[in-house]
Amino acid sequence: MRTQADESHADLRAALDHLMAAGGKRVRPTLSLLVGNMLGAPVEKTVTLGAAVELLHTATLVHDDLIDGALLRRGMATLNARWSPPATVLTGDFLFARAAKLAAETDHLPLMKLFSETLAVIVNGELTQMFISRGLINRDNYYKRIYAKTASLFEMTARAAAMVSPVDDSVIETMRDFGYQIGMAFQIVDDILDFNGDENAVGKPLGSDLLNGLVTLPAIYYAEINPDDLDVLSLPNGGWTNNANMNRLVENIRSSSCTKKAMVEAEQHVDRALAILNTFERSIERDALENLARYIVDRKI
Ligand code: IPE
Ligand code: IPE
Ligand code: MG
Ligand code: MG
Repeated sequence: MRTQADESHADLRAALDHLMAAGGKRVRPTLSLLVGNMLGAPVEKTVTLGAAVELLHTATLVHDDLIDGALLRRGMATLNARWSPPATVLTGDFLFARAAKLAAETDHLPLMKLFSETLAVIVNGELTQMFISRGLINRDNYYKRIYAKTASLFEMTARAAAMVSPVDDSVIETMRDFGYQIGMAFQIVDDILDFNGDENAVGKPLGSDLLNGLVTLPAIYYAEINPDDLDVLSLPNGGWTNNANMNRLVENIRSSSCTKKAMVEAEQHVDRALAILNTFERSIERDALENLARYIVDRKI
């Protein structure tokens, strides 16, 4: 990942260094490596796939933080906090291009197609969220949104790692489902952390989804239990633009049982993921994938 800007403008190199130094959890490359190793894929393919996926993820974060005006990511200043919007957009574009190049280096055309289709799903999901989903209290819409913006990439990663392994189509499909389940759980937990996480640990601005008009699972539970709450009623009518009301709503959700209820749903996805793993023979990688699946709901960052 680091060498991707080697021959580029010094500022681009510095930007990539800054992004890489901040680290991140690197959950997606871990998924690529563990699935590939469990199924006997050549290591160089899953390393390349992992780097491609992580760079794609990083590119979406660079653009996401610019769009949201977020100043902190992974405990460090975002690119948009230090740079102009045009420079930030172009850096994101550069990362997308390098991610695609890495994906192509797996020398696997169906994987390449899947990779670009997934990027299209993510971008379409973000645009849909921007244009029609703000303030919307609707479960179906929520599940579609979190699939598009997050679970699709986990799904693609696990599926692609199986595609470069010596296994048949049914195993590829099983691993796709595994990626889907932990991806859905991952975004539900991200949405819970927005309410009850520790900002210093998470390293990004919290408590901001509702202020951005994003009604996530804890808020949907709250709306279902308190249908007459005035702040809830204001949401679909643009009420999310009112900071005072939304801060109150965030506080009310925090002190309710709604984040716990959302966590039960995330755990159900993880249970499905664990059941999938149980269909494979025991191995070091299978154990590690189990730990990864559990970490998704246990994490504080
Ligand atoms: C953040 O992803 C964006 C979401 C999809 C929720 P991560 O939580 O994996 O971010 P890093 O890479 O660890 O910083
Ligand atoms: C962003 O999801 C996922 C992307 C595809 C960029 P969020 O908006 O929940 O991510 P955070 O909370 O800013 O990391
Ligand atoms: Mg964001
Ligand atoms: Mg979030």
